[in-house]
Amino acid sequence: MNKVVAMVDLRSDTLTMPTEGMRAAMAAAELGDDVFGEDPTVNRLQLRAAELLGKEDALFVASGTMGNLLGVLSLSRSGDEIIADAESHVFLNEGAGAAALAGVQIRQVATEAGIMTADQVRAALRPRDDVHQPPTTAVCVENTHNRAGGVVWPLDALRAVSETARRSGLSTHMDGARLFNAAVALDVLAAEIAATADTVTFCVSKGLGAPVGSVLCGPAEVIGRARRWRKALGGGWREAGMLAAAGLWALDHSIERLADDHQNARTLAEGLAEIHGVRLDLDRVQTNIVYFELEGMDAQDFLARCREQEVLGAAGADGRIRFVTHLGVDAGDVQRALEVCSQALESAWADSRA
Ligand SMILES: Cc1ncc(COP(=O)(O)O)c(C=O)c1O
Repeated sequence: MNKVVAMVDLRSDTLTMPTEGMRAAMAAAELGDDVFGEDPTVNRLQLRAAELLGKEDALFVASGTMGNLLGVLSLSRSGDEIIADAESHVFLNEGAGAAALAGVQIRQVATEAGIMTADQVRAALRPRDDVHQPPTTAVCVENTHNRAGGVVWPLDALRAVSETARRSGLSTHMDGARLFNAAVALDVLAAEIAATADTVTFCVSKGLGAPVGSVLCGPAEVIGRARRWRKALGGGWREAGMLAAAGLWALDHSIERLADDHQNARTLAEGLAEIHGVRLDLDRVQTNIVYFELEGMDAQDFLARCREQEVLGAAGADGRIRFVTHLGVDAGDVQRALEVCSQALESAWADSRA
């Protein structure tokens, strides 16, 4: 309904607009005060999320960032340290919330494509009896891994890390902002992946297509602590059922559909890889994210040329370009994006030769 016909917006899967069906579900939602625990739609979403992930309890929150921060706050105390990948969202892109608001330091581990090994966890562990060093309390894993290109953690790798964490007295938190992309890619239930972590955040606001919201799932006691922290952070919301209704609608209608996004990303990546001057690792394209680099052309210049043709992408400071597929992008849009990318590169080279 809200899709601008000509625009192909590949900047992020957070840009999805609620569909007619979702909007109808939002308008019809039964409401109550969620701080009182009385919003029936929020309660239904939380119950559903906990069931889907095989956890005791769940908490509906404003964002993935808030879900991760509440995970950190609820699993650790000020002065503790957690282990996370050096390229993780929780370390790079959450405003240093763990440090600033939880008083928790992040020990960064350099990984191959975001996948940590059990040995890396063991190597990063602090000795318990040394007063100089902060206690390690948790490992945070990101699945799918955004900056690695939507890479999915193999289940064995997850089990190895969480088992090592457990044996060392640590909790495991999963930043599963795109958990359902991982489940669809592996063709397993989300619960099977979630079983490898104590707490899991997933977002309904990304590929699942809801306008707002994430859910933190885990043991009842931890979620109870998270509920208190959410209030302290100003995240206690009142008649939030309209947003929860969008989340429920997304869980009912949008999980299997993620396979289309993965197929579109694959087609996009394979097409890009054939364009002269594009460097892209096809092995990393496992879900809905495509990263690539350009030889001999500035990323911002390339994106500006694409934008003139109504194709939008994003570039980071490292010069890599990111395209993300989502429910606002269909197979025809992918073909158009490929044509525009090819023309943008050709026109840039023509300009440089002129
Ligand atoms: C892997 C990952 N974790 C967490 C987040 C944070 O989600 P939000 O933007 O809802 O705070 C994002 C957002 O893109 C993400 O990609």
